[in-house]
Amino acid sequence: MLITTILLSALLASHAHAQSTGTNLTVPTGYGPTYHSCPTNMTFLRPPIVRPFPILPSHPGALTRDQGLNRDESAWVSGRKPVVASSLAAYLSALHLPDFPLAEYTAALARDTSLVPTLSLALSGGGAPATWTGMGILQAFDSRFPPSAQQGTGGLLQCLTYLAGLSGGSFPVTSYAVSDFPTTADMVRQYDPDVDPFSPPGISSDAYEEEVFREIFQKLQAGFPVSLADYLGRVESFEFIPGNGSGINTTWSGVTQLPRFRNYSMPFPLLQIVVVAQDAPPFYVGDVPILIPQANSTLVEATPFEWGSWQGPRTGFTPTKYLGTTLFGGKPANTSRCVNGFDNAGFMLATASCAWNLWYEINATNGTGPNFAKRALGADFARRSLGISPARAEAEHLTKRKTIFFPESEFELLLAAYNSSFNLTVPDVLTAPYPNPFLGINNDTQRYLSMVDGSESGQTIPLAGVMQPARKPDFIIAYDVSQETTYGWQNGTNLIDSANWAESFGIPFPKIASATTMLNRNFTLRPTFFGCKNASVPLVLYLNNAPYSTYSNFSIIDNQLEPEQVTDILTNSFNIVTQGNGTLGHGWAECLGCAAIQRSIERLGWNTTSQCAQCFQEYCWDEVDDTELLPGLQVFDPSLQLSPNTTFAEWNRTHQYFYTNDTV
Ligand SMILES: *[C@@H]1O[C@H](CO)[C@@H](O)[C@H](O)[C@H]1NC(C)=O
Ligand SMILES: *[C@@H]1O[C@H](CO)[C@@H](O)[C@H](O)[C@H]1NC(C)=O
Ligand SMILES: *[C@@H]1O[C@H](CO)[C@@H](O)[C@H](O)[C@H]1NC(C)=O
Ligand SMILES: *[C@@H]1O[C@H](CO)[C@@H](O)[C@H](O)[C@H]1NC(C)=O
Ligand SMILES: *[C@@H]1O[C@H](CO)[C@@H](O)[C@H](O)[C@H]1NC(C)=O
Ligand SMILES: *[C@@H]1O[C@H](CO)[C@@H](O)[C@H](O)[C@H]1NC(C)=O
Ligand SMILES: *[C@@H]1O[C@H](CO)[C@@H](O)[C@H](O)[C@H]1NC(C)=O
Ligand SMILES: *[C@@H]1O[C@H](CO)[C@@H](O)[C@H](O)[C@H]1NC(C)=O
Ligand SMILES: *[C@@H]1O[C@H](CO)[C@@H](O)[C@H](O)[C@H]1NC(C)=O
Ligand SMILES: *[C@@H]1O[C@H](CO)[C@@H](O)[C@H](O)[C@H]1NC(C)=O
Ligand SMILES: *[C@@H]1O[C@H](CO)[C@@H](O)[C@H](O)[C@H]1NC(C)=O
Ligand SMILES: *[C@@H]1O[C@H](CO)[C@@H](O)[C@H](O)[C@H]1NC(C)=O
Repeated sequence: MLITTILLSALLASHAHAQSTGTNLTVPTGYGPTYHSCPTNMTFLRPPIVRPFPILPSHPGALTRDQGLNRDESAWVSGRKPVVASSLAAYLSALHLPDFPLAEYTAALARDTSLVPTLSLALSGGGAPATWTGMGILQAFDSRFPPSAQQGTGGLLQCLTYLAGLSGGSFPVTSYAVSDFPTTADMVRQYDPDVDPFSPPGISSDAYEEEVFREIFQKLQAGFPVSLADYLGRVESFEFIPGNGSGINTTWSGVTQLPRFRNYSMPFPLLQIVVVAQDAPPFYVGDVPILIPQANSTLVEATPFEWGSWQGPRTGFTPTKYLGTTLFGGKPANTSRCVNGFDNAGFMLATASCAWNLWYEINATNGTGPNFAKRALGADFARRSLGISPARAEAEHLTKRKTIFFPESEFELLLAAYNSSFNLTVPDVLTAPYPNPFLGINNDTQRYLSMVDGSESGQTIPLAGVMQPARKPDFIIAYDVSQETTYGWQNGTNLIDSANWAESFGIPFPKIASATTMLNRNFTLRPTFFGCKNASVPLVLYLNNAPYSTYSNFSIIDNQLEPEQVTDILTNSFNIVTQGNGTLGHGWAECLGCAAIQRSIERLGWNTTSQCAQCFQEYCWDEVDDTELLPGLQVFDPSLQLSPNTTFAEWNRTHQYFYTNDTV
């Protein structure tokens, strides 16, 4: 990554002039949003319907199972149901389920689509490892990848109703959705992972930076505040939104026009972000106030249909296509100034991974200040160092499995460029500003909401959207790369945070094991089901990034991966999902199938087959918590699950990827 100091003072000088003339383009051709007259039949701010949830009547504000879903989403899900039903039939028929009445099950779903189970996959944040291992998870569930189909895990992707992403996990979710749901192999070919999107070949870095800043300027010129999220979005689009113009006019709402969305053959994508409350106690870096979300900060979801929040002081949804429009009291402030194109897909992706506030503060405090949300809900800032110094990493040969800070010199140049080009100061640019659709509702006077990476809320797995009762969740795969432990593996803290968050709003969600239990019982190394004993909560499969065939805990900011490394990472994810082609868990693929349909079996009033009962015996948490961490787990340093005798040092000697050391 290379950032040059650039001076766009000429652009800055023309700013005032440009704003007064305005642009009246009818479609976005560049990065700047455009203005149109507002449709008259549109609801610009939809309140979610608030009624007590019948199972937990003591929680006012919770939703009933049937209410609150966006009308378009509801219609789309109805269209998706029959597609899922036939995908399920194909998926289940490839499994060895001898005592399961598949034909009867298929017939029952065909008769009554409300029996079709709602399955979701949530891809966690965690930087580049979350992006690339997440792509491997998608591939391992994809029927179009022959080895997955062979192992019986392929096909589950085709049965999903929802696919949620956040931060590093928002890259595959956004990218697959705007590309009309290609295979992972196609996607990797288009990304060209060994190109650094911050410094692509064939263009001088000065010219590239200048082009990116000119594009960002188009947005400023159109009357919108800009931030480092725009920079991240434009640059990451170069790789992750392939095609002409690198996603310059690709919108998130535009997904609704794509063939596989229209014929219901892709899962419904959603991104999770968080609002930084302006009244949060700021963290000072010198005299610069840095705002950081609290555990109770409002979680926002962005679907191709709408953008908004189910819980908290700002509940309601605005159409994604018209994001950026100034609303007052839920209505356009000026009916001839409705905005299109603010929902640029790269900007959405960048908002979901915009952690500049934390990157800045972590750099300035050398990791001793507020950190990535690896803290328990309700707890104060964890004073935990994000990383060890490169020198120590070098000494301990750990360079490949440590997260490190954002390269500081480049960060400084970037801040200087925002200042010289746009006259913006550090606090202006660390969070992504969104015109506040709740302006004028409940005396809300804040013009812009400051949005950041959803994981800053303490929940790195984007579960808030998919667990909503209005979406009737049956089975949720929670894929975790949140890196809470020393070497970048998990101990369950972020999943526990999500369970606590759910409980605080009365949302049905399984009881989750403590971090101690997670570690003692290897729940962050092997697949585990939560919620097995309670039919009124969704069943959750907890899957983790863990070393199976490769140490997949590389630097969170690796922007360049060579083909061998990509292959190794995808294979590692494949081994996680298939349990080493079944070598680690005999009958695991069948157990996954059992879990996927369990809630629908209960709705049918059928008995769980003895094969499935056996599976739940083996893979469910028994709801017993340990109180003491077993010896040796204070520093969680698992070895390769498929080759336990290969130490990291040995593996490292034979896996010297070309680009990896760049970033350290
Ligand atoms: C833009 O549209 C407004 C009304 O919507 C109109 O008054 C104005 O003349 C237009 N400007 C240009 C440059 O077309
Ligand atoms: C979107 O951008 C591409 C590439 O610059 C361009 O070819 C296309 O015409 C644009 N589409 C619209 C609707 O402006
Ligand atoms: C609004 O009207 C347009 C044009 O008649 C129609 O296509 C669209 O579906 C309507 N939208 C809603 C929300 O009713
Ligand atoms: C979060 O909690 C604090 C203190 O309890 C409160 O002042 C604040 O309004 C809450 N914020 C939200 C978004 O609920
Ligand atoms: C930053 O922290 C590391 C250890 O985490 C320490 O070795 C280093 O000296 C610190 N740097 C500064 C400038 O305080
Ligand atoms: C990052 O930290 C270093 C060391 O404290 C400091 O010199 C530098 O100015 C910081 N960078 C930014 C962008 O604040
Ligand atoms: C830059 O912004 C400051 C206020 O934030 C303002 O006083 C100053 O005039 C601006 N400079 C230019 C060149 O616009
Ligand atoms: C809004 O403010 C007015 C005047 O201060 C107050 O009477 C009213 O209760 C407030 N409404 C809400 C919903 O907070
Ligand atoms: C799990 O990780 C969190 C966040 O890093 C940490 O605070 C906690 O002590 C860890 N718990 C265990 C049991 O390792
Ligand atoms: C957890 O895995 C380790 C090896 O990685 C093994 O020694 C231990 O027995 C496992 N514990 C349980 C409860 O399965
Ligand atoms: C499982 O199969 C895949 C694809 O055929 C292969 O790449 C991988 O090495 C196999 N893993 C094991 C543990 O055999
Ligand atoms: C379910 O199992 C119970 C006990 O084994 C049995 O009595 C009942 O007939 C079974 N129901 C169905 C629908 O098979």
